[in-house]
Amino acid sequence: MNMIKLPSGRMVAWRDDGSGPPVVLLHAFPLDSGMWAPQMAALAARYRVVAPDLPGFGGSDPSPSWTIDTAADGLAEWLDAAGIPGPITLGGLSMGGYVALAFARRHASRLKGLILADTKAEPDDDTAREGRTATLKLVQESGARGLMKSMLAKVLGVTTREHRPDVLDTVNEIGEWQSVAAITAAVVALRDRPDARPGLAAVAVSTLVLVGAEDTITPLANAQTMASQIPNAILTTIPAAGHLANLEAPAEFNAAVESFLLTIHPTA
Ligand code: MLT
Repeated sequence: MNMIKLPSGRMVAWRDDGSGPPVVLLHAFPLDSGMWAPQMAALAARYRVVAPDLPGFGGSDPSPSWTIDTAADGLAEWLDAAGIPGPITLGGLSMGGYVALAFARRHASRLKGLILADTKAEPDDDTAREGRTATLKLVQESGARGLMKSMLAKVLGVTTREHRPDVLDTVNEIGEWQSVAAITAAVVALRDRPDARPGLAAVAVSTLVLVGAEDTITPLANAQTMASQIPNAILTTIPAAGHLANLEAPAEFNAAVESFLLTIHPTA
């Protein structure tokens, strides 16, 4: 694990493997960069794969009042501090995708490519905001362990739930040790995130939109919105995977990412 103190004083932890064109991966809620282990292993032969922990998760310092936009700015600050050369290909899954979309809007010149996995451009509607209030209460009362217990059935696809107990264990292990403070701040950031739809038409880089066929949190319709409104986007559906498609079907997920990256870096 690598650690660096940003000029703003916050410590950021990240995983870093391989060499070549930089590919930066942003994790989902309420996990950390450890969720990218299968992608780091597959991509490190050709790329420098770096995966930071978002505020308060994994080994990164908390930031009690962060937003999706400030996380995108913090990412730019961290890229400079850590000496990761740009332009980068930025990938994010779900919460990581929200931050990636904000980065594309606020730091467009630093991007070479974009990977949006199991995420969406739409903001929370009233029902989703009510769900955030319930999540905040659950986390206060039952901690990360209680949250993971209630979330696992929703984040994993039916195929994984029925046939891959090892994936359930992996997700649970990453989620259940995250702090209540980190989860609480993130729920507020998720709830208050901006509508990313107005920025989609301005995304100028090649974009891969990925979605697990069994994703019920950010389903195919959300992926189709992004893929249809981003000018240079392709959409790939990952069979037999839910919301955490990178962990549920790593071979198919990696194959889609690798062929996309080769279109950006033909000689990598
Ligand atoms: C995630 O996986 O990061 C979350 O499902 C995002 C969200 O709740 O909006």
